[in-house]
Amino acid sequence: METPEILQVGPYPEWDEIPLNEAFSVHRYFDAPDKEAFLAEVGPSIRGIATRGELGADRAMISACPNLEVISVYGVGYDAVDLEACRERGIRVTNTPDVLTCDVADLGVAMMLVQSRGMIGAETWVKDGSWAAKGLYPLRNRVHGKRAGVLGLGRIGFEVAKRLAGFDMDIAYTDVAPKEYAPDWEFIADPVALAERSDFLFVTLAASAETRHIVNREAIEAVGPEGMIINVSRAQNIDEEALLDALENGTLGSAALDVFEGEPALNERFLKLDNVLLQPHHASGTFETRKAMGKLVRDNLSAHFAGQPLPSPVL
Ligand code: 8YV
Repeated sequence: METPEILQVGPYPEWDEIPLNEAFSVHRYFDAPDKEAFLAEVGPSIRGIATRGELGADRAMISACPNLEVISVYGVGYDAVDLEACRERGIRVTNTPDVLTCDVADLGVAMMLVQSRGMIGAETWVKDGSWAAKGLYPLRNRVHGKRAGVLGLGRIGFEVAKRLAGFDMDIAYTDVAPKEYAPDWEFIADPVALAERSDFLFVTLAASAETRHIVNREAIEAVGPEGMIINVSRAQNIDEEALLDALENGTLGSAALDVFEGEPALNERFLKLDNVLLQPHHASGTFETRKAMGKLVRDNLSAHFAGQPLPSPVL
């Protein structure tokens, strides 16, 4: 039996590659030396795209596949998929929500703790002999009992806030409207006002054209010289130039970031700072979650081609 032809935008772990190749005729976009020529050649046969959250599928890719029916995203964020182009042609889009929520929340909270307590520098202090030579490690800022702001109280933001409650933090959040599932946390409609009352500001909202730079210069400076911004969502939710300026001149205390504009080639200004924790976009990066994400990518594709309801549709 002929299997549906799909375009694979980026690599997956081996445990996903094998079943993907068994179920579909896979064309590996990322292996092609000349991407444009490759798309021109295979595009007309493509019925599905398997991509990753940060890679998405842009209008040019979608246009190169005139028989495209479905795009399956390995990731909860689908901001890199041109949804308008999909709507115009009735192309279905799926993502992998829920399965990664708790790992992303875990990493966000871990980043807060690691950065606030200076654990990366502390390990260097041990390894380079500073402990023996210089004595005690410089004191760092407390986390528990402080004020936390969660910008975007969706699935991930909610799990972050739950964890922060375990640190007796005073929690507030911003979202489009108050959430009935969060009666114990203060709702603050304005992101700058949320930033102002936050020692730790978590950015956990889905990215879209509307949320671009929602954490602007004013919000960054409102977090202040003692405060920290933690981002496990998408870089575009923060004005990155303003963030770099504030980190350089001390109007923002510190940041812990898993996402960057133009990643993995991040702005070199980040590399010179000692008040940031830099992580390689791996908040969902556990064996358990990535296996569940890969399965959901395939389940969505298989359901589509079998004419069954999609397990996790976006469009
Ligand atoms: C990536 C993500 O997809 O869920 C998302 O939106 O960005 C991530 O889970 C992951 O890093 C794999 O590429």
